[in-house]
Amino acid sequence: MEGEDIAWVGTDEEYVRLHGEAPRQGDVVLDGRGKTALPGFVDPHTHIPWAGYRENEFNERLKGKSYAEIAAAGGGIVSTVDATRRAPLEELTHLTRARLDRMLLHGTTFCEAKTGYGLDLPTERKQLAALKAASDGHPVGVVATALPGHEVPLERRGSEALKARYVAECCDEILPALAADGARFVDVFCEHGVFGLEESRRILEAGKACGLLPRLHADELTPLGGARLAAEVGALSADHLLFAQPEGIHAMAKAGVVATLLPGTSVFLRMNRYAPAREMVAAGVAVALGTDCNPGSSYTESLPAVAFFATIGMGLTIEETLTAMTLNAAASVGEAARRGSLEPGKAADVVLVDGRSLEHLVYHYGVNPVTDVVAAGRLVVSGARPVTA
Ligand code: NIG
Ligand code: FE
Repeated sequence: MEGEDIAWVGTDEEYVRLHGEAPRQGDVVLDGRGKTALPGFVDPHTHIPWAGYRENEFNERLKGKSYAEIAAAGGGIVSTVDATRRAPLEELTHLTRARLDRMLLHGTTFCEAKTGYGLDLPTERKQLAALKAASDGHPVGVVATALPGHEVPLERRGSEALKARYVAECCDEILPALAADGARFVDVFCEHGVFGLEESRRILEAGKACGLLPRLHADELTPLGGARLAAEVGALSADHLLFAQPEGIHAMAKAGVVATLLPGTSVFLRMNRYAPAREMVAAGVAVALGTDCNPGSSYTESLPAVAFFATIGMGLTIEETLTAMTLNAAASVGEAARRGSLEPGKAADVVLVDGRSLEHLVYHYGVNPVTDVVAAGRLVVSGARPVTA
């Protein structure tokens, strides 16, 4: 690699044959013996700028409550909204940076991150500001998604008119402000009891009108038809999709919408089901994998952990899983030309996994298989520890 990009890819022998003796003076050499080099992982779905924790809900679910029941009883997204509204920018920045640090140690070199725990203009902007400050100079590259349509805030509940006012506020005020602040995507939680199909469409179209690219939480808890909506609005990605129906999957295939699957969330919420990943692959949909890192439905920064559930739970092969957390994940966030594979001209984001074959990415489960990370040509994790500049 030269500078931030990959200059050439091949074996030591090929390199010497083509370029003469190696290494040259000043070269940094990584010893990969006994390890497997992979493209830096891309996490295309996270909610990392949040404050507060919901470990009590984890235990409630073990005692038999569902995610929806906990939300209806005042827990869920709105409790994180309350904590995030109260957190000073510095605290939110610090929390977000710690999450980026853990992602990096687990091999993630690029991620998407959403707002959606503000649900009002100042807090949605504060989340974006925290994300910007946390990622400034950080090895993990970040692209931001505006998600004011994550829930209906408590102060806008009680009547259809109040909810409609919030949808209008998202469209007319919050999304334009977040677009101006540097968000690239617009997202919405399209779900029974949250935002319906037509409300979701309105929010996504309003985002498009201010230059944001659409993606959405679709068919996560009920078969509402979000997959089809994703195809209709030209979304880059539809995410979750546990309840996606065959016609929605075919519509996604036809429109080229990436399916970003989050099997960690299925396990965490004890859903007893996964997205129909094999049907999606068979239909020709590009499948990506993300952590969904958030305090309510999937608290992990580890894509290798998600890879374990993708293989064991959804039946993806190791090769499909690797593609899903690299090249297809990059496609999910519009970065496939720049990231997701080890090719000359792409970003020099490389991960070394402990073990001489790809299987070691998931085979040694429950531990972090990543030993070394190069991000934009710089060695940033060595021997499973951060390299401090
Ligand atoms: O992707 N589905 C909506 N949003 C998140 C959950 C957020 C939360 O519970 O705080 C998700 O699962
Ligand atoms: Fe999510």
